[in-house]
Amino acid sequence: MTPVVSGFSKLSKADKIKWIAEYHFNNDVNAIDTLTKYWNSNEKLQKLHDEFTENTISNYYLPFSVAPNFLINGERYTLPMTIEESSVVAAASKAAKFWQTRGGFRAEVISTTKVGQVHFTYAGNVEKLEHFFSTINKKLINSVAHITKNMEKRGGGVKKIELRNKSTDIDNYYQLHCTFETADAMGANFINSCLEQFAKTLLSEAQSYSEFNDDEKEIEIIMSILSNYVPQCIVRASVSCPVSELPNTSKLSSLHYAKKFIRAVRIAEVEPYRAVTHNKGIMNGIDAVVLATGNDFRAIEAGAHAYASRKGSYASLTAATIKDDVFTFSIEIPLALGTVGGLTNLHPLVKLALQLLGSPNAKKLMEITAVAGLAQNFAAINSLITTGIQQGHMKMHLMNILNQFEATKSEKEQLIEYFKTNTVTHSDVVTQIERLRN
Ligand code: MEV
Repeated sequence: MTPVVSGFSKLSKADKIKWIAEYHFNNDVNAIDTLTKYWNSNEKLQKLHDEFTENTISNYYLPFSVAPNFLINGERYTLPMTIEESSVVAAASKAAKFWQTRGGFRAEVISTTKVGQVHFTYAGNVEKLEHFFSTINKKLINSVAHITKNMEKRGGGVKKIELRNKSTDIDNYYQLHCTFETADAMGANFINSCLEQFAKTLLSEAQSYSEFNDDEKEIEIIMSILSNYVPQCIVRASVSCPVSELPNTSKLSSLHYAKKFIRAVRIAEVEPYRAVTHNKGIMNGIDAVVLATGNDFRAIEAGAHAYASRKGSYASLTAATIKDDVFTFSIEIPLALGTVGGLTNLHPLVKLALQLLGSPNAKKLMEITAVAGLAQNFAAINSLITTGIQQGHMKMHLMNILNQFEATKSEKEQLIEYFKTNTVTHSDVVTQIERLRN
């Protein structure tokens, strides 16, 4: 068994790798080589990455790709996308190209507020607590003036603090439910700092509140933390065109295509097994832009899936309709994104990604990101209801299989040519490589 190590974080990077190699790789030089060959020769850049987290021993590359031709609210964008899945960027680009000749994407931010909560217990008279809260509401807000000063200059700040009685769910459980505006920052640190100060103020004010008896003064703070559920930080994006301008083939008229498309979305509205995969496809586009622009994709994922369940069962984040012979496809999604703070000014590729988008503010980034999700979902459903997903997916995955078999440049060229007219399957790629090599 690997021994317990203490003080690991204080070891140098080389010593951490030595330890890993000794206890996990039997001192295999290949393991050391793999870890060190990803170090950046630019020491300053490497140090920057080392300091993003604790115990960094190497860099983990993901492709930084771009998807051009996105027409959004009349402006053209090239989207930065960071993702490992082979077909995602190609699918986004294809959807962008299709819709740019049909008016492009429209997007608008519906709301931008975020929530944080101080969770606490209070074992006493509820009316007294409510009265106490009404007397300290202003004091709570004043107590964070030093934190909110700069945010207020940028149009943000604390919007509201409510006392919520949750004691029917859990004995003696109450919340300060706080609403914030965080301008162009995602705002997690700002919100958490405010909440921790609210908690301190709540406790100190309770101590000096003369109406409370000794037990009632013993408010216990359980935790103070922002919520990644942001149903009041919503963006909507859509595309529409006459049904006659939708794809059509000898097998599928445009109208039939539209109806089949709507049916596919409808299935994701009522069937959670399908809805999860449907929304996963949306998140392929969203996460790729979120990662490229240095935002927190775990927060975005958690918030989006919670929103997809808001009506009581997990359902599609997109909707499709035909009205007066016009096909409309739309998405509504919570996206708490930032374009300042966090990694945005630190990671050189994040900085570049934001510049590529024309240095958007947070609202614009919300619009662009929602569009990436809608485009991705359009591309997926388009494939699913026509050729099936594997044709496009395996075409893009072909290069991964060829690389797995260390195919040479000439082998790759020959097999890419061969698979232009043959269906890509893992076993046929293997057969064809063997054929060439024999
Ligand atoms: C694959 O990453 C995503 C899809 O499965 C999404 C979908 O089925 O809608 C293609």
